[in-house]
Amino acid sequence: MIKDNAAIGVIGAGTMGTGIAQVASTQGHKVYLYDAYPQQLEKSKAGLKSILARQVEKKRMTQEEVDGILGRINFVDNITNFGECGFVIEAIVEDLDIKKDTFARLEGIVSKDCVLASNTSSLSIAAISSALKKPERFLGVHFFNPAPLMKLVEIISGIATDDKVFNSTKEFIRSWNKITVSGKDTPGFIVNRVARPFYGEALRIYEEGIADAATIDWAMKEIGGFRMGPFELMDLIGHDVNYEVTSTVFEAFYYDPRFKPSFAQKRMVEAGWLGRKSGQGFYNYKDESRNPVPEKDEKLGQEIFDRILTMLINEACDAVFMNIASIEDVDLAMQNGVNYPKGLLKWGDEIGLKNVLDRMTALQVEYREDRYRPNPLLKKMVAEQKSFYE
Ligand SMILES: NC(=O)c1ccc[n+]([C@@H]2O[C@H](COP(=O)([O-])OP(=O)(O)OC[C@H]3O[C@@H](n4cnc5c(N)ncnc54)[C@H](O)[C@@H]3O)[C@@H](O)[C@H]2O)c1
Repeated sequence: MIKDNAAIGVIGAGTMGTGIAQVASTQGHKVYLYDAYPQQLEKSKAGLKSILARQVEKKRMTQEEVDGILGRINFVDNITNFGECGFVIEAIVEDLDIKKDTFARLEGIVSKDCVLASNTSSLSIAAISSALKKPERFLGVHFFNPAPLMKLVEIISGIATDDKVFNSTKEFIRSWNKITVSGKDTPGFIVNRVARPFYGEALRIYEEGIADAATIDWAMKEIGGFRMGPFELMDLIGHDVNYEVTSTVFEAFYYDPRFKPSFAQKRMVEAGWLGRKSGQGFYNYKDESRNPVPEKDEKLGQEIFDRILTMLINEACDAVFMNIASIEDVDLAMQNGVNYPKGLLKWGDEIGLKNVLDRMTALQVEYREDRYRPNPLLKKMVAEQKSFYE
């Protein structure tokens, strides 16, 4: 449905919009990148120029390629040219009313066949689509930051999305050298839902005083093979952002204790300890000598890693159990959206699903909290002696 040579409209020239415009232009499309604030357009253009100049310096791109990419992007302060576009993706501020207002205005300008998408992380596709007269041509197309580097794009069908629109958009985004996965319109979609225990269980272990941030990070990297530990990752994301996502998911799941935010992180936000960007988070970025040193105790490290991984696998099982995504897509999503070293369900198979269930049950028996309830699919698989992959 979206033509191979379609012009692409991107709304919002911030972090994500600029990255998505770069991806589309690199694929040879004419791009219109619109922002309501002219200074943001200037910032976006200057940022992109400097990113691409570095690619030339590192000999990853030629000057001609860079000129081509920049030349195909039109930085515009209005959406009048969007009538030319075959696909428009919105990446503006995460505010439902502003997004709805933007799509209502846009629908009066674009052609009848133009596919419309939102890059939202936490709003429902159904809620945004309520602003449209033709919601069947609207869906979620969720890129990860930085969009040019991260391979994963979650394609989310809304309640009214036409199957043909969904399938052709998926195919179209795949033609941009991206890995696409299909997810249901539920809070956090796939990655931001399944990844919650990576932060949540790490914070719980920290709050219980079992280990400090540096030791937990060490365990997840050295024993687990994760690229970053949960605390350094939260410091990088920003505690304000991470706490907000956690709270939104918790509320959206009608306060399911599995997603309960932590007091430790709330206090960091309240104190203005936002992580790298403020100079202080779980680590100090001004004076590294003040940082905790990991206690490299193998037995403790293994216990920490086992507990967090068990919770992650249980959550991945839930995403399949609740039909959020297929087994393969859940694994692809976590490997390519947050760079996990293995797919979680494959990892479960490798450890043995019975072992995963035993660990979950042990946590549930110890704490008697609903947070630690083993997923029904996990229990069923173990009872039937099945694994996710042959
Ligand atoms: N940052 C991430 O890691 C990330 C990852 C995936 C998805 N997202 C989602 O992408 C969207 C954008 O996030 P971001 O991090 O790029 O935000 P950002 O703040 O960097 O950029 C948002 C841009 O939208 C512009 N804007 C605001 N209101 C507008 C309007 N009415 N019309 C046109 N432009 C307007 C702002 O001027 C700004 O340039 C959000 O929905 C967010 O949830 C973000």
